[in-house]
Amino acid sequence: MVSDTSNQPIKPLRIAVLVSGSGSNLQVLIDAMQAGALPIEIVGVISNRDDAYAITRANEANIPVAVLSHVANGKRMGIKTFETHANAQLVEWQPDLIVLAGFMRVLSGAFIDNAPAPMINLHPSLLPVYKGLDTHQRAIQAGERHHGCSIHVVTAELDAGAVLTQALLEINQTETADSLQARVQKLEHKLLPWTILLLANKVLSLDTSNTVKASLLPALPLQLFMNA
Ligand code: GRF
Repeated sequence: MVSDTSNQPIKPLRIAVLVSGSGSNLQVLIDAMQAGALPIEIVGVISNRDDAYAITRANEANIPVAVLSHVANGKRMGIKTFETHANAQLVEWQPDLIVLAGFMRVLSGAFIDNAPAPMINLHPSLLPVYKGLDTHQRAIQAGERHHGCSIHVVTAELDAGAVLTQALLEINQTETADSLQARVQKLEHKLLPWTILLLANKVLSLDTSNTVKASLLPALPLQLFMNA
């Protein structure tokens, strides 16, 4: 058990993770938790796709999973139904923090406001530029020199909440959207655990209205410039 300087055991931060795909970011958190490198407990994973590989990763780590597939028996699950089930599940798990890691469904303001914990999202661009999809292609087409990923507070407006942290790289002359995506994903795998460590250790803190407090820090976002 990790202790602080007064020898009190540090209570792990309870995290729920929402996913839609491969779950490589979830895996980074699982590995860090199992290695004792991050003071977290992943209390559950919600997937909105029943074919997400992230489900296998959670199962292998014995983490509870709720699959709330957006399509069942050929019928699309409406966002309201999804949100009702997801909210009930989150309330049961009682997380301290909800992490959207490759979660590809847009959530309503009511869901975000009523969530039982603050919510953060990992987005593959240097917000506020390139909100939404196809961020790597758009950054190349615009002739950007830099690109990267951001972790921001989730608000009703898509990809628009306060940006906590960013990791950035230089775009190469010969870059394609695929090569850039692979390089940015390596940054994501550093940025997500680093940001969660700052939150777990209360260097950064969020209250339930998603207000950021970071009194010991220089202006946000905190940025990592990396060679990926
Ligand atoms: C990440 O690259 C993230 O930026 C994007 O979806 C991807 C999720 O990857 N929104 P994974 O599911 O964590 O492997």
